Amino acid sequence: MTHAGHSLRIERLKFAYGDATILDGIDLSVHEGEFLALLGPSGSGKSTLLRLIAGLEAPTAGLVSAGGRPVAGPGTDRAVVFQHYALFPWMTVVDNVAEAVAKAHPTLSRGERRERAQAQLARVGLGEVGRHHPFELSGGMQQRAAIARALALESPFLLMDEPFGALDPINRARLQDLLVEVWRGSSPRRTVVFVTHDVDEALLLADRVAVMGANPGRVIAEYPVAFDRPRQRAALFKDAGFHHLREEIADALDADTLAHLEAA
Ligand SMILES: Nc1ncnc2c1ncn2[C@@H]1O[C@H](COP(=O)(O)OP(=O)(O)O)[C@@H](O)[C@H]1O
Ligand SMILES: [Mg+2]
Repeated sequence: MTHAGHSLRIERLKFAYGDATILDGIDLSVHEGEFLALLGPSGSGKSTLLRLIAGLEAPTAGLVSAGGRPVAGPGTDRAVVFQHYALFPWMTVVDNVAEAVAKAHPTLSRGERRERAQAQLARVGLGEVGRHHPFELSGGMQQRAAIARALALESPFLLMDEPFGALDPINRARLQDLLVEVWRGSSPRRTVVFVTHDVDEALLLADRVAVMGANPGRVIAEYPVAFDRPRQRAALFKDAGFHHLREEIADALDADTLAHLEAA
């Protein structure tokens, strides 16, 4: 599959549930191969924005386009990973991934699908557990399997909504590293939109951070994240540039919260 021109454009986007405006005036572009973090407090509309990009919701006004085409619904060009493992509980782990392989390669035989699924599982460190069912795996392993499933779709866009939010810190760090490794190792690179409410996670992973404010949800600031890769946590968390950026983002979020308190 060619990834040429796999950029995202969001223009004058508005989204409302009845009278409640959830998102308003969002303009955001993500270029092909870029890793964008969407950072914001709970309730700022991060998940809603991701669901609009995924085609699981339709805009009230404005436009979302992926690869130059308006998003009109879900598609295999946009793989989605949610916070809670989206695996079919009645299928073995390898069959869960093979099902995604089948979407990317409908003409492959059952045996070939399984073989590719097995390779994808090995890539995320799950080479040994394919024949088990999801409930037999730990939370961290289930989320690895969900990521293997998303990667098996070979989609040029990868949309992730707090995918590591439910994990313990050790598994979280492992999967962060794994994600960056897979993303950096694929050619051409996937275009990633990664939702998080964790500033450190955004700065560790992303090329750019779009900061969202609430009521209504909108992008209040954007920051390029230029730290060299591969990024080592220990070095990064000591870096003066990291602390400076972290403070700038915290200030932007505080200023937005204060503006709302004063207006109320
Ligand atoms: N189905 C829904 N109906 C009405 N309001 C909703 C619905 N889903 C989310 N919201 C509201 O939209 C806002 C943004 O939610 P969400 O996108 O989940 O934010 P975030 O992911 O940043 O926490 C919240 O105020 C939430 O209460
Ligand atoms: Mg959310």
